[in-house]
Amino acid sequence: GAAQASAPNRLPFATISREDLAFFEQLLPGRAITDPEVLEPSNVDWLQSVRGSSELLLRPRTTEEVSHILRYCNERKLAVTPQGGNTGLVGGSVPVFDEIILSTALMNQVLSFDSVSGTITCQAGCVLENLSSFVEERDFIMPLDLGAKGSCHIGGNVATNAGGLRLLRYGSLRGTVLGMEVVLANGKVLNCLTGLRKDNTGYDLKQLFIGSEGTLGVITAVSILCPRKPKAVNLAFLGCSSFEQLLEVFQCCRGMLGEILSAFEFLDSACMKLVEDHLRLTNPIKESSFYIVIETAGSNAAHDEEKLHSFLEEVMTSSLVTDGTVATEEIKIKALWAIRERITEALRHDGYTYKYDISLPVEKIYQLVEDMREHVGSRAKNVVGYGHLGDGNLHLNITSPFYDAALLSAIEPFIYEWTANHRGSISAEHGLGLKKKNYIHFSKAPEVVLLMGYIKAILDPKGILNPYKTLPDTCP
Ligand code: FAD
Ligand code: MLT
Ligand code: ZN
Repeated sequence: GAAQASAPNRLPFATISREDLAFFEQLLPGRAITDPEVLEPSNVDWLQSVRGSSELLLRPRTTEEVSHILRYCNERKLAVTPQGGNTGLVGGSVPVFDEIILSTALMNQVLSFDSVSGTITCQAGCVLENLSSFVEERDFIMPLDLGAKGSCHIGGNVATNAGGLRLLRYGSLRGTVLGMEVVLANGKVLNCLTGLRKDNTGYDLKQLFIGSEGTLGVITAVSILCPRKPKAVNLAFLGCSSFEQLLEVFQCCRGMLGEILSAFEFLDSACMKLVEDHLRLTNPIKESSFYIVIETAGSNAAHDEEKLHSFLEEVMTSSLVTDGTVATEEIKIKALWAIRERITEALRHDGYTYKYDISLPVEKIYQLVEDMREHVGSRAKNVVGYGHLGDGNLHLNITSPFYDAALLSAIEPFIYEWTANHRGSISAEHGLGLKKKNYIHFSKAPEVVLLMGYIKAILDPKGILNPYKTLPDTCP
């Protein structure tokens, strides 16, 4: 695919010399990779929409090694792109030019687990799904879950402040990350690895690194507060004939399910068609305009089922819902979740994907999809809407058989202007990365962007950490 984001010119960073290579090879024997074939997947993003040309991939195992790498790179003015599972969707996780890739793939150790508080402390490169299994064996769950769980790293999750499917219930990582260890651009290690729930001793610096997308430091370890594993989980997969009815179901659901509601997700009929066509998944209910995935998680199966059933009775008898199915067994729950979780994958099979991740007042979110359909007309192959309805987070995706610059200029800035006019955010959970950084002004005031630039300059004065990302090319 062609590069979607126009890359600026390469900044005057150093290029890797023979001495540099010798240094890294000595520091990380066998883990300073220059083989182009091994480097290839790290140079291309998950969407295969942006590509860098790095010639060096470093795989440290310890915080100390990360510290040595950054101290050296900072002195030599070598640019570095931190990389976790490379599942990021805004082109932030791959180099733009020849930045060195610093991968957390080998930093995958759990450091400790406190079974009283449910706090897990681990290295940044632990794969989310592995952490989930680890804590589930101890009767806890991770406070976040996303479709990329099999490959994303917890450090990448924290660096992007990933939202996902459980945010509605357990809140954002800003609340559940209790501690963090981070290596600054100059190699200094900042140890904020406390496992305390409360700590108001001055500025909460770890918050700066949550959602900083590798531009302020390399996260090497985190402490995360895990909820207890629910004893009962139920899933309802429902169909609705209009978005207005879907909103009514949402309100009814919040009222009737209350504290046991753990997810409220939606997809439109175009998404259902994509997962049917490209992934051969089957629609478990009658064809509808909209589908809802409702999950409940609680401590008493009988109590939860009773609540769920009276809710279902209410929405069925009032005809808000046209059809539905309920699952209580894990295997069926997983199969139903797959329909929602694998839309991203289905889209990748549909062609080039123009991906948007918008926060809006919940009652507005589908209007944007309809306006976009009308706006781009037949130039698009598909215009689909899905997302974390309970969080007011719409994923609006558009596909075309190949990258089409004319289509892109029909979509942008239209979508950003629409979002700003409705006081939304142009990135709800994916971040800005390379693709969205120059649209930051649609969601943040000039003085805020200016202050971001000052913070970047203090923490990374030479700008070696993930250059060309997150901050706009021109500061206000
Ligand atoms: P990467 O993609 O490797 O990196 C992402 C960014 O973080 C880059 O800017 C990188 O430089 C930086 N970074 C990575 N590790 C570190 C570190 N240790 N220190 C400092 N910076 C670092 N996102 C959501 O929010 N919600 C979802 O529901 C969701 N679902 C997804 C489903 C699929 C199928 C896919 C492919 C992606 C999804 N994403 C979602 C996006 C993506 O998974 C998340 O952004 C994820 O948190 C990225 O983790 P990663 O380890 O892959 O990071
Ligand atoms: C999701 O909610 O499925 C993810 O954020 C990925 C996507 O937006 O496609
Ligand atoms: Zn999402």
